[in-house]
Amino acid sequence: MNRISEDIIEKIRGTIDIVDVVSEYVQLKKQGRNYFGLCPFHGEKSPSFSVSPEKQIYHCFGCGAGGNVFSFLMEIEGFSFLEAVQSAAKRTNIDIPEIETITEKTQTSTIAEKMVEAHELLKKFYHHLLVNTKEGSKPLQYLNNRGFTKETIENFTIGYAPSSKDFAIKFLHKRGFSYELLEQAGIAIKSQEGTFYDRFRNRIMFPIWDLQGNVIAFSGRIIEDGEPKYLNSPETTIFQKSKVLYGFHLARSHIRKKQHAILLEGFLDTIALHRAGISNAIATMGTALTDEQIRIIRRNVDQVIICYDSDKAGVEAAFRASEMLKDAGCEIKIAIMPDGYDPDDYISKFGETKFRTDVIGASVTLMGFKMQYYRRGKDLKDESDKISYIDNILREVSKLDKPVERDHYLRQLSEEFEISLDALKSQQFQVYKQNKKRDNSPVSRNNIANRPILQKRMLPAFHNAERLLLAHMLRDAEVASKVQNTLNGLFNIEEHSAIAAYLYAFYEEGNPPNVNALLSRIQEQNLQRMISELSMLTLNEEISELELSDYIKQVLNYPKMLKIKEKESERRDAERRNEYVMAAQIEMEIIKMRKELK
Ligand code: CTP
Ligand code: MN
Repeated sequence: MNRISEDIIEKIRGTIDIVDVVSEYVQLKKQGRNYFGLCPFHGEKSPSFSVSPEKQIYHCFGCGAGGNVFSFLMEIEGFSFLEAVQSAAKRTNIDIPEIETITEKTQTSTIAEKMVEAHELLKKFYHHLLVNTKEGSKPLQYLNNRGFTKETIENFTIGYAPSSKDFAIKFLHKRGFSYELLEQAGIAIKSQEGTFYDRFRNRIMFPIWDLQGNVIAFSGRIIEDGEPKYLNSPETTIFQKSKVLYGFHLARSHIRKKQHAILLEGFLDTIALHRAGISNAIATMGTALTDEQIRIIRRNVDQVIICYDSDKAGVEAAFRASEMLKDAGCEIKIAIMPDGYDPDDYISKFGETKFRTDVIGASVTLMGFKMQYYRRGKDLKDESDKISYIDNILREVSKLDKPVERDHYLRQLSEEFEISLDALKSQQFQVYKQNKKRDNSPVSRNNIANRPILQKRMLPAFHNAERLLLAHMLRDAEVASKVQNTLNGLFNIEEHSAIAAYLYAFYEEGNPPNVNALLSRIQEQNLQRMISELSMLTLNEEISELELSDYIKQVLNYPKMLKIKEKESERRDAERRNEYVMAAQIEMEIIKMRKELK
């Protein structure tokens, strides 16, 4: 099955650095010898995902995920082993001569690849029509009027779909794409009569990328006015709006560097910000922020500045997005523009500098934003509006963890409305108690996420002994050889025997200890996870002879102890049946067995 030679796999494994690869998906911070970050495989707020640069493996103390660089790519990208090796090879620039022959991919992945290929070709074609042909002059003029530079048009490969019913699909059909595939990809539409035609006509075309930078869809804007303003590709196997963050493949490295992301509502706003040199901007596709998008953001950064349209819909959306991001553990700020503007309008009208200083630079905290939010449409001179505003703010204040912060906002309220601070404090406490009662009944999301890392159940002694033995064996061939001579495969836990067997074979070939290399020979995910976990255990460097023989004894004694327990229950049965001779005989056996334990 494995048609890439072991040598090449070894070479790739030895060249690539797992820290680099994981860093593309997880924000890692160094702590001692290892790196830590939020696990990309389960939701959490405090980091229990660790990567060891020395051992070249990863392990999550929260969910148990673990392995080497290939397992990581398989798990995070859904790759097969071969695909993971190929993807790693690409990153290292190591040639795989056999690469052409290893096309045992699933049907669906080939179709998906073809869909992407069609989009990539069409992207270039549309772009060519926009910048090089007479037909493109009107849309190009429109873009220029909106402030699009040549450079921006290149960077975002903006294009033009001509006013023709089948120009695009004919172009692609000639290059070997079937009409059915083009329909599946959302590029073609099939009529009642069964003929195919272009989805996008006479529109300015914006390619939409996935996180890796493959074009997976288009959005076409009408030139000037008309309906619909934007026509998007339908949802397909390669394009799900809920998983797209527009501009992410361009913004990722900037987000990491600046340690914050700017989140927008529209892709045109994203382009406007990039044009203004603000390259850590990303956007949803005009829809509400999804959990999937939050996970992507969270893997990369702690701080997010939300900069949505400042109309009613935009403010509502910003409010919801900020709550969701906060629940996911992000630090939020909100950048606010004058009513009716979106970031693109603002930059066109007031310029980049003013946008930087007066919008992004003046972004407010979540609480500051909420205060403005609850003020919208209220007349604070009106008594009932005022009371409802104060209620809202007290509810928000009661959610704040820090007493200093609570105090700060209560004082602010007290000054603005000339209410005594004591009255506000006591009312705030009432609200807090009410909320607490409500929150306590069901297990709230926070409780689960906040539980301490590594809350491992207590393991029985033999189980612990087996784990410690394996952990030492993984680090030291001599220990492994001693265990092989005494215990061999007699581990009580099946997976432990399997790991020992792999390890004996590995050392017998003369390999020095190397978990990463060992992992690449093992297919079973559960074994990979266990090995990674055991390798991450903190151990005393050396194991003494005494410790070693003690662990081995515990492992060997366990089945004997089970037998003794069996015998004891046999003896009790015999006693119950009044068969005292039999009971005495069994007792003798038990005594003998107990002696053997020592
Ligand atoms: N959108 C969409 N379909 C529409 C309208 C909007 O998919 N019919 C999405 C687009 O992703 C768009 C975002 O919603 O970028 C925000 O919409 P809107 O604010 O109306 O558009 P702008 O980005 O401001 O576009 P323009 O400046 O060209 O009007
Ligand atoms: Mn706009």
